[in-house]
Amino acid sequence: MPFTIAIDGPAASGKGTIARALARQFGFAHLDTGLLYRAVGVQGGDPVQVAQALVAADLDRADLRSAEAGQAASKVAAIPEVRAALVAFQRQFARQEPGAVLDGRDIGTVICPSAEVKLYVIANDETRAARRAAELGASVEDMLAQIRERDARDAARDVAPMVQAEDAILLDTSHLSIDEAVAQAVAAVQAAR
Ligand code: C5P
Repeated sequence: MPFTIAIDGPAASGKGTIARALARQFGFAHLDTGLLYRAVGVQGGDPVQVAQALVAADLDRADLRSAEAGQAASKVAAIPEVRAALVAFQRQFARQEPGAVLDGRDIGTVICPSAEVKLYVIANDETRAARRAAELGASVEDMLAQIRERDARDAARDVAPMVQAEDAILLDTSHLSIDEAVAQAVAAVQAAR
């Protein structure tokens, strides 16, 4: 049976970094599910049709990491038919041996509700804005406004809103180094194996 690690949380909370480190540590595949919504958001046209036609190669576009792509993603991510079109790809990815790490907003609640380990990664707004600003070379104020707008939209939508699963372990990375955050995540996985 494949082992699935579900990691959710708001923008720039550290979940992507933790997901990559866990995948490396345990030899698992990793899927950043935000890329799916970003790819749909930047392509233009009818988002439902774009989502239905999405292929893995669409996730390699260089412009997917931008703040604009993040905003576009969070708008199309509120459309139920877009989310429905992306479920099968994510669930199939999660079935890989020996295991898979998926990070996003609804992995522990909707995509992989029976994941062996669920983490909900958070950090305070200022910390997250500073991280995103350093990553994208933008101002902290702009990033603060953007992630707050995006988080509010992601948490308020009717379908698969961003929320901590009941059985998820809460990991607050506000005052942790990357190494400390990864060590706590590794310990949580080891406890479940
Ligand atoms: O994680 P990332 O910032 O790349 O996600 C971009 C946007 O995609 C999020 O703001 C959210 O609206 C959407 N998303 C989602 N469900 C996921 C992953 C991302 O709705 N599992």
